Amino acid sequence: MRKILIAPSILSADLLKLKEQVQLAEENGADFIHVDVMDGNFVPNLTFGPNMVKALKQFSKIPLDVHLMISNPDFHIEHYAKAGADIITVHVEACTHLHRTIQTVHDFGKKAGVSLNPATSLSSVEEIIGEIDLLLIMTVNPGFGGQKFIRKGLQKINKAREMINNSGKDIYLEVDGGINRETAPEVVKQGANVLVAGNAIFGQNDIAAAIRNIKESVTGL
Ligand code: DX5
Ligand code: ZN
Repeated sequence: MRKILIAPSILSADLLKLKEQVQLAEENGADFIHVDVMDGNFVPNLTFGPNMVKALKQFSKIPLDVHLMISNPDFHIEHYAKAGADIITVHVEACTHLHRTIQTVHDFGKKAGVSLNPATSLSSVEEIIGEIDLLLIMTVNPGFGGQKFIRKGLQKINKAREMINNSGKDIYLEVDGGINRETAPEVVKQGANVLVAGNAIFGQNDIAAAIRNIKESVTGL
């Protein structure tokens, strides 16, 4: 049985209560804090910059999982690395020289993740699977929290698990978009081991119960 990690996304947090809510998530079983960085160009929404990562790093005790939904991520990796990101994930669709981008993340001593939009084939990461620490399969089109889970992603997760197992490397298989206690067991059955959840955790009144519910939904799978 593989350990399933929970990565609450602060996109759905109450920004005026961010510290309190993140601490609550940490005390109640969160494994990573997922930070959704959007630039209003790669995706039609604008969110946080390196300052947010720096602020979270001052009190967060668990890894900061920074999801860069931005164009030209190469220009910005240094800033997120220096701000305290532990995992830096870029989108394959935004990288012309993905191998170099992954190297840059590693040069800063950080874990490197690569993310695929729902319309992007897994074949786009076939040549670099052995170089990465995390593969992120999007099950919504990135840009907003609270969207509906795209079920076609289940097949991709299954194939991704096979690809990771064949690589012989220890690579996180993360899923992001529409994860809740109904969809969590479905993605875990296909091989996911890191679950991002925004609306289903920070969008709920009882954050502790929300994390517990997701954990319970995948226990024993
Ligand atoms: C979507 C972001 C997600 C988002 C998920 O563009 O990458 O991390 O916070 O939100 P939910 O869990 O509400 O679908
Ligand atoms: Zn995300």
